[in-house]
Amino acid sequence: MFQSLKTPAPDAILQVMQMFRDDPRADKVDLGVGVYRDDSGNTPVMRAVKAAEAHLLKTQDTKTYTALAGDPAYHAAMAALLLGDTVADDQIAAAATTGGTGAVRLVMELIRTARPDATVWISQPTWPNHTLLAKVVGVAQKGYRYYDAAEGALDHAGMMEDLQAAKPGDVVLLHGCCHNPTGADFTAQDWSAMADFLTERDLTPFVDIAYQGFGAGVEADAAGLRLLAERVPRVLIAASAAKNFGLYRDRAGIALVVCDAKERTAVQATLAGLNRASISFPPDHGARVVTTILDDPAMKADWLEELEEMRNRIAGLRRSLANALRRETGSDRFGQLAAQQGMFSVLGGSEAQIARLREEFGVYVVGGGRLNVAGLTEESVPRVARALAKALAD
Ligand code: LMR
Repeated sequence: MFQSLKTPAPDAILQVMQMFRDDPRADKVDLGVGVYRDDSGNTPVMRAVKAAEAHLLKTQDTKTYTALAGDPAYHAAMAALLLGDTVADDQIAAAATTGGTGAVRLVMELIRTARPDATVWISQPTWPNHTLLAKVVGVAQKGYRYYDAAEGALDHAGMMEDLQAAKPGDVVLLHGCCHNPTGADFTAQDWSAMADFLTERDLTPFVDIAYQGFGAGVEADAAGLRLLAERVPRVLIAASAAKNFGLYRDRAGIALVVCDAKERTAVQATLAGLNRASISFPPDHGARVVTTILDDPAMKADWLEELEEMRNRIAGLRRSLANALRRETGSDRFGQLAAQQGMFSVLGGSEAQIARLREEFGVYVVGGGRLNVAGLTEESVPRVARALAKALAD
């Protein structure tokens, strides 16, 4: 049966994670996988999560199945977090998923089911799972330019030139905030111009939002998504609670679809049916923790406070690294670090340079030079800056 099976190439991000684990050096630094870390290098269980879990331990009296699309209370709590009050309830279809990846996959499956001739336009670069999932699900995909590496900023002209080729009914995949991997986000004007463009061309936005609260705050980070939801008739959303609730392994994700109220019943039933055909019932523990926190004012306030501490830590590390690199290189070559937001920035670098960074200096970043700023500590910043300046020198 398996004679012709070839070993697949390992995922680029998970490969870095494994190499880091296998490295015996005590002073190695993991700037690879997109996981938040505190100043001691730990990924803590958030205080509100502990409180919600303690509450559930006391009060939860069943673990029976929820529904194929998950718990409606989770849908409502996440829809409010992501969309505020921009969309009426009868225009939102939702399904709980196994993490943000499960949400991206479910939305891709929905696209394939509802509009098999649609092409999904994906930014270049993007999170590797976007292209992988489009391929595995069997949705046509094309890339659009997104980032100008020389400028360390969005490539507006390239993006709009490439998207001119999209045909009515196509889907444009956008990052809600804290773009993975580049860290270069849309401004409010960019979102507004994109909303006009999508409406004029009859294109549907598909927003992947996994870092709400890591950029400028929970409300500010959702502003672009909310603007689209107000102005574009249909919006596809894949969201994750892995990062902003620190629930990585509990796989709390959600697919939300903003649609016409008349279409909602069909979309909702299709999402439920697609879950049935892959996982039957979605996992509930992480989703229930999220709902418990969002529905309890005290827990929610504590969650927002801790999230702000995390966000401030990331912003502080960005500034420290940018300053240290300015000192090391005597230039502003890596100046984008301070201007961008969220955990990621992409610094470039050839395969050999990235390997040198890893082998000689014990600093692990993903290929192309994507680094997770949250993997730094104030103590490791000077050493990492020296390593980056040396290894990435032209
Ligand atoms: C990342 O981008 O590093 C994370 O989202 C982990 C993953 O699944 O790729």
